Amino acid sequence: MNNRNMKNKHMILGVTLGNNFGTHPATWRMPHVDPRSYTNIDATVEQARTAERGGLQFVFLPDRLFLNGDLSTAPSMFNLDPIITLSAVAQATERIGLMGTASTSFTEPYLLARQLKVLDVISRGRAGWNAVPSYEPEAFANFGKVLPLRENKYERLHETMQVVQALWGSWGYEAGQPDQAGMYADPAHICPVNLQGKHVGARGPLPVPPSEQGQPVIMMPASSGYGLQAAGMYANVVIGMPSSIEEGRAERQTVQQAAAQAGRDPEEIKFVAFVGYTVGDTERQALNARRALDDRIDVHGQLSRLSAYLGLHEELTLPDEPLTAAQLASVRAYPNDARSVRAVELAKAGWSPRDILAHGVFDPNPYVAGTAEQVADHLQEWFEAGAADGFVTNFDDFHTGIGDFVDHVVPILRERGLFHDGYEGRTLRDHLGLPTQYGLDTRIATGSTGGTR
Ligand SMILES: Cc1cc2nc3c(=O)[nH]c(=O)nc-3n(C[C@H](O)[C@H](O)[C@H](O)COP(=O)(O)O)c2cc1C
Repeated sequence: MNNRNMKNKHMILGVTLGNNFGTHPATWRMPHVDPRSYTNIDATVEQARTAERGGLQFVFLPDRLFLNGDLSTAPSMFNLDPIITLSAVAQATERIGLMGTASTSFTEPYLLARQLKVLDVISRGRAGWNAVPSYEPEAFANFGKVLPLRENKYERLHETMQVVQALWGSWGYEAGQPDQAGMYADPAHICPVNLQGKHVGARGPLPVPPSEQGQPVIMMPASSGYGLQAAGMYANVVIGMPSSIEEGRAERQTVQQAAAQAGRDPEEIKFVAFVGYTVGDTERQALNARRALDDRIDVHGQLSRLSAYLGLHEELTLPDEPLTAAQLASVRAYPNDARSVRAVELAKAGWSPRDILAHGVFDPNPYVAGTAEQVADHLQEWFEAGAADGFVTNFDDFHTGIGDFVDHVVPILRERGLFHDGYEGRTLRDHLGLPTQYGLDTRIATGSTGGTR
């Protein structure tokens, strides 16, 4: 039912960037990696340029507002401020979209609106905002606050989204272009927004004219009921983490329903799924690349977890040997757990425990270590099954992973008619095939933001 006629349809591809190393905690330890890359903007720029060489629609910077992880073993995935980082990337790239995460829980909307729209104008219409409510107590502690009730957190999100978008639209297109013999801009079309809610408000206007795409694209995560309802109202793109095609189809459908409920056309909202890949000349080579990373972390915990996921009640004492006939006779998958099902499949196919782990069975997103064809097959299967409109790719090692994907997988996707041959337009909105929008979407009721001052 969800299958689409793929003839003229291309998938969207984004790529996660972050600490300049990669999504695997051991990448910083690799001999080819400069361990000081964490703050090296040249590394970020090079990764973004590589993605741009492949025609990827956007780079994505996730964010957390506290120092997370154990620095004694690995750098945090979230390092520098996304908006500031993307401002530097904007100057060093031409076409690729710049999707940055910023929380709706702390920053006043005037400041958020200004920073994001400035990124949009300086990148000539390539900015996107991954708008997320923060959810960890540690983030709230950094603002001298305690974690609010979910209801209040989303109330603030609604107000923030509406005030930010209203501010974006406050310098109207009708204000015109500077006329040296007349007005610089027509103030009659640069108007206050006068919005005041329970949590936030702003008078406006914002002194930033429209960008080439009007205003930034909005991405939001597929999360709880509250989040989904908000995404249905404001998001142009929804990012999810489905672990199977079935989950992807269901999430995509739910997102589309949320858009319809908010009075929007379900087709104008794009659903993208997180995926992870390592590309090799052979499957063995790709798995070895992952294993070289796994060898640099303590995998004992993962091996114990694997034993449990295989339904075994014993330690996997020979991690480099395929399971014994006796072990294989007693493995059992938890049917509702996609990871357990996959682990059992891999064990039955004769892979050793370490190779099963190298297949990324415990990664937060579906992961393939294989040849370029195997990776392209995975993307094609998910896309054609209607599990997603596109993907945000994650690579263990940004230095090698992005280039391998661009040089080997992208040409196959193009050959199969699944990915565009290059950027048709100039803005992120063009790349994603989104309708124009400027200011608050007039179809969305602004009930939770209160009235005018
Ligand atoms: C795919 C995906 C990506 C997310 N990215 C971020 C992020 O970059 N930063 C962040 O603080 N939260 C991120 N979140 C968390 C959500 O913002 C949200 O707070 C979380 O899912 C809890 O939602 P709830 O409070 O509605 O249960 C992400 C969630 C999902 C599903």
